[in-house]
Amino acid sequence: MSTLFLNARLLNPAENLDTVGSMKIGDDGFIEAVTTGGEPIPSIDGDNVIDLAGKVLAPGLFDMHCHFREPGQEYKETLETGSAAALAGGFTGVALMPNTKPVIDSPLGVAYIRHHSAGLPIQIEVIGAMSVESRGEALAPYGKYASYGVKAISDDGTAIQNTKIMRLAIEYAANFDLLLIQHAEDKHLTSGGIMNGGAASAMLGLKGIPEVAEPIMIARDLQLIAWLKKHKLNGAIPEPRYHVAHISTGASIELVRKAKAAGLKVTCEVTPHHFTLTENDLVAASEKGNYIMKPPLPSTENRDALIEGLRDGAIDAIATDHAPHARHEKECPPDQAAFGIIGLETSLGLTITELVEKGVITLSRVIELLSTNPRRIMGLETILFEPGKKANLTIIDPAREWTVSEADFGSKSRNTPFMGRTLRGKALGIYHNGKLIIN
Ligand code: DOR
Ligand code: ZN
Repeated sequence: MSTLFLNARLLNPAENLDTVGSMKIGDDGFIEAVTTGGEPIPSIDGDNVIDLAGKVLAPGLFDMHCHFREPGQEYKETLETGSAAALAGGFTGVALMPNTKPVIDSPLGVAYIRHHSAGLPIQIEVIGAMSVESRGEALAPYGKYASYGVKAISDDGTAIQNTKIMRLAIEYAANFDLLLIQHAEDKHLTSGGIMNGGAASAMLGLKGIPEVAEPIMIARDLQLIAWLKKHKLNGAIPEPRYHVAHISTGASIELVRKAKAAGLKVTCEVTPHHFTLTENDLVAASEKGNYIMKPPLPSTENRDALIEGLRDGAIDAIATDHAPHARHEKECPPDQAAFGIIGLETSLGLTITELVEKGVITLSRVIELLSTNPRRIMGLETILFEPGKKANLTIIDPAREWTVSEADFGSKSRNTPFMGRTLRGKALGIYHNGKLIIN
């Protein structure tokens, strides 16, 4: 059966498209016709006709930073429950971090995820570990990754501390044009830290994480990349592509700005919790577990710098760092809590509420940050609203007000600080792989 979306707000920044129109999709899941304005669309009997009454039809949202915990920690999340969380949030695709048990650091691990996610309704991209077991000692087999279609590598949750090994990782990744996703953290500085270091951590008696721990690693990596580009690589292999995960300080953003201006292939992402919350929210919370994450919630000054980076384009993408943990790992003293929170279900609502409603960015820029740019950074095909192209869509009601509650979650875990919060903007459903899935 073909599907017909009528009276949609067709919003696709990749084609500079923002207009009222209709889209017809064949039963094979490919777009048959797109009309704009009042132009009639060809129809047939039996079409599944959906009048969107002005709701937004956007390219499918893609979250380039998720943890689905399979294999090894299925009590927190599985590929199936993680996909349900993605659907609930309006995402048609995700990229999965390799810090499972065991770590995904071999073609076998990649094949395992592919096999076990084959029948799921969303697109799942596998990120391979940068180093064996993400221990920062020996490099993982990047050539094998590339031949298995892996597009990015990361030791998320940690980072290669040894500069010589990082130099080799950058060169080796460039050879196979793999994106390096860096969890920028100087572990010697952060060791034992629980929250952002400063007056608030001192007052609570919790060990601080110095905010310089992030830009120090980014500065190191960018120095290596600039040096390799100038003296070593000689254009013989692709330039290194470097992406900063969950950026959280103004100093880090400044480094990214300068590197971009110098022509390096550098991008970065921010999470909704880092642009929404600050360390003061942790101070105020009676149950602190869901305010503990890495990097830690920023100072107000750094949070404001993140918002500025979103406004001026220094930040390329919004990614959730969806990090499910069980109740007992969060409902405990803060210095014993696991790091991280879930984010797929609340990402779009927080982005519209905190950024569009407050006049920081437009809805079109939201789609860039949540779909167009993460897909481009990951090296995935651009979604176009044109006949012959595969339909990959998210239906959004940007005006819908909703209060975050149990019923909104697909994840196996509930470690979110946003339960009970009223948000504006929600995904009503997706169209992907020839299927319409309404929330
Ligand atoms: O808070 C976090 N949780 N930060 C990370 O980098 C890793 C993640 C996890 O895997 O739980
Ligand atoms: Zn992560």
